[in-house]
Amino acid sequence: MGRIPDEIVAEILQKTDIVQVVSEYVNLKKSGKYYFGLCPFHQEDTPSFSVTPDKQIFYCFGCSAGGNVFKFLMLKEGLAFPEAVYAVAQKVAVHIPENYPVDEHYLRKQKKKQQVYSVIEQAAAFFNQCLVSSQGQEARKYLQNRGITRAVMEDFKIGYAPAGWDKLIKQLSTTCGINELEQVGLVIKNQQGTNYYDRFRNRIMLPIFDISGKVVGFGGRSLDDSHPKYLNTPETPYFNKRYLLYGLHLSRAAIREQGFAIVLEGYMDVIACRQFGVENVVASLGTALTKEQVQLLMRYTDEIIIAYDADTAGIQATIRGLDVIQQLGCRVKVLRIPDGLDPDDYMRTKGSEEWKKLIKQTRSLVEFKLEVLSKEVTPTSVAEKIAIIEQVLPNLAAIKSAIEREESIKKVATTVNTSWEVVLSELKKWHHGNAGKVTSSITNISNISNTSNTANIKSLKFQHDQKHRNQAEYLLMGLILGDYELFSLAQKELTMEQFQNKELGMIFKLLVETNCKFKQKPAQIMQYLEENAQQLLGRLISETISGQEQSEKAKILADCIKVMQESTGKKRRAQLLQQLKEAEQRGEKQQVNDLLQELQQLFCPREGERHAGRNKAGLF
Ligand code: CTP
Ligand code: MN
Repeated sequence: MGRIPDEIVAEILQKTDIVQVVSEYVNLKKSGKYYFGLCPFHQEDTPSFSVTPDKQIFYCFGCSAGGNVFKFLMLKEGLAFPEAVYAVAQKVAVHIPENYPVDEHYLRKQKKKQQVYSVIEQAAAFFNQCLVSSQGQEARKYLQNRGITRAVMEDFKIGYAPAGWDKLIKQLSTTCGINELEQVGLVIKNQQGTNYYDRFRNRIMLPIFDISGKVVGFGGRSLDDSHPKYLNTPETPYFNKRYLLYGLHLSRAAIREQGFAIVLEGYMDVIACRQFGVENVVASLGTALTKEQVQLLMRYTDEIIIAYDADTAGIQATIRGLDVIQQLGCRVKVLRIPDGLDPDDYMRTKGSEEWKKLIKQTRSLVEFKLEVLSKEVTPTSVAEKIAIIEQVLPNLAAIKSAIEREESIKKVATTVNTSWEVVLSELKKWHHGNAGKVTSSITNISNISNTSNTANIKSLKFQHDQKHRNQAEYLLMGLILGDYELFSLAQKELTMEQFQNKELGMIFKLLVETNCKFKQKPAQIMQYLEENAQQLLGRLISETISGQEQSEKAKILADCIKVMQESTGKKRRAQLLQQLKEAEQRGEKQQVNDLLQELQQLFCPREGERHAGRNKAGLF
């Protein structure tokens, strides 16, 4: 199957009403120009899922899921993009011809992908056979000793890579090329480069699945405690740990149902939990939780419990990771397992009931941080107290529920032995200093585009640090998405590179490239963006600024552009100065000259040619 031509995709979108499609899944109620309902992608009691008919997009203010009608079906039905297009085409009776001109590049890429995953799938099947064959006797015994049942082995498609150097190579020799096997990390070339051998030997093989349940890599556990304990598929273009969570394909329904996900450290912990009936669990793949993994989880829930082993090294690193989760708009809790046990051991020694009790006793991120911080230093001096308070202020600020926030403020006060009024006043100060700062999905651009606009813009004018630049970028995007005239103005002044936020830059680039399409319907450009940018666009479109005078908006836009340009200018200036210093040291006269000239142009544009026609004052 080739790539469906853009015109046909556009025609299908044109004929579709997203409200109707979404209504098949969500009970939508009209409110102004939006429809609202309970989000089908995360657990919630009050509707934060919106559909905007005139833009033909959906967006959830709770979990940030967003996109056009295709995206909706992709998420809801687990479809790939072309499948979603076919599904909608059928609803609106658009015929997709079978023999449309194919996009060779796309076809080749698709074919390659299929080949790669077929190699991995064949290897998984082989390992699986080996586990049940006579070769797998010792491995089976090992698993039995660890109390893993047959059913759970099957759920996780556990296998065994036999001892020897070329068992897999031999097995797959008729169906896969050796290069293909090397490419997916299943075989390794010897040092002389003359021969290949199996990467995984005499190991329990735990297939790692993507969200659809397709095997994309392996973790191989040694049978004894020989080193390394785990050998994993190396990073390849087809196996990227950042984007994978072990067990998610099995647990996503339970996560959605129960309203939270438990993130564990080990593969074995996930397996044990499932066996003991705790199904809403995943494991990060031996690394700190990434932003991408959190975003993956946020399709299903907005509450994450971290249950890392008690002996985890690098608690500070863990904390930083947890801050990221919270900044993404998720509620984070931390479960400390007593007696230095990991979840697997804990459940097996104390039973699953005790484990379930433990889950109920999680602590909030603020509490966890307080405990760690006050263990390092006992807060006695004023400076120590302030240091601790400062570290938890961002977390306090990110707590959505007022009651919860108040509770946490009290806890902070008790820990550092001060009054809650002091903590509250610090929090207010912090808020003030960070007004409008876009740190998380809960801070949306309407925060900075409502009545406080004038105040914000004033500070925008006078301070050009990163924070304001970020704010300016968001504000600008909100403006140009809602207004073609403003978009045209911005297009003349900015390039994608001037956006510090990568996703905003990509959206901007796409707007420029698809000038006309966008003018009609932003939903049409959604599918060209990568996941994160799609979400961001969905959010921005759902919040586009309205209700202000056109001249006022143009003024705000001009200010935003100015902030972005000046901040880019500053960065460039610092770069140029550094290069100048180096060129001088090396005594390269010509380069020194060139650099000086560029510096001059940057700051006295009227004398230079480059900036001619960029007379900002005259624009608006
Ligand atoms: N890990 C890894 N490579 C290692 C050690 C650990 O990739 N050499 C990763 C694995 O994803 C592992 C996780 O870190 O699952 C946590 O390690 P650990 O707690 O030691 O593993 P468990 O899965 O609990 O395994 P077991 O109970 O068999 O020791
Ligand atoms: Mn373990």
